Amino acid sequence: MTARIIDGNKVAQTLRADIKQKVDERLRQKQRAPGLAVLKVGDDPASGIYVRNKRRACTEVGFSSFDHDLPATISEVDLLKKIDDLNNDPAVHGILVQRPLPSHINPAVVIERIRPDKDVDGFHPFNMGRLACRIPRLRPCTPYGVMQLLATTGVDLRGQDAVVIGASNIVGRPMALELLLAGCTTTVCHHFTRDLAAHVQRAQILVVAVGKPGLVKGEWIRPDAIVVDVGINRLPDGKLVGDIEFDVAKERAAWITPVPGGVGPMTVATLLLNTLQAAEGLPAD
Ligand code: GUN
Repeated sequence: MTARIIDGNKVAQTLRADIKQKVDERLRQKQRAPGLAVLKVGDDPASGIYVRNKRRACTEVGFSSFDHDLPATISEVDLLKKIDDLNNDPAVHGILVQRPLPSHINPAVVIERIRPDKDVDGFHPFNMGRLACRIPRLRPCTPYGVMQLLATTGVDLRGQDAVVIGASNIVGRPMALELLLAGCTTTVCHHFTRDLAAHVQRAQILVVAVGKPGLVKGEWIRPDAIVVDVGINRLPDGKLVGDIEFDVAKERAAWITPVPGGVGPMTVATLLLNTLQAAEGLPAD
């Protein structure tokens, strides 16, 4: 069987159109546009592209984009001061500090300085903790986007065997918490996992977020699995591929995300959604 493709571009576009409508409604009611501050420190070329995409997406839905391009030499203290200013600025509803940061800056300290209700990346321990406690607030963008892609399949996730490969703070760990919250029996595989193939072979839901092309062999995929590839790798010939052998996997899976055009567009769309939610006010418990 050939898998159905989960079209991240289409899902993200629908979400963005919905966000734009809500922004238009806010403006009609004379409320402020949601404001997102995106901070870039240094000149990492990949970060440059990601930041540009995020800022452009902001303007497209009618948000105010506050751009801060800071030198790689900025001290941690000065970066924290900048964050304090943005924390106190009522026009700024979301703050995102693009990673990676220069090695003299501790990313954990930076994340914890951002007010949790402006932490639209969802990386602050408060927001991660809320997700772990089943009372999510601002949810990490990529896993949140993956959950929305899974929802489009219409498959009931409760009781499904889910396997996440990769245990990073940004994707793997919060992804596992999201799947657990959705009722999956969830396994996290990582660097020390002994028999990766055996785990993949029993996965009804597979999410791979490692950054190694060809890590997951297509023949490992369980027939009828839902397969989500978070990896984005550029091969020497310039081609973009994920972590999964797509051509073989798509002949076994029921559903699969392509790279590009799968998870990638959702990450920016959920960032916008988080910023809108931060601007609208997070629900009381
Ligand atoms: N670097 C790579 N992905 C991300 C992300 O989602 N957020 C931030 N802040 N930095 C990143």
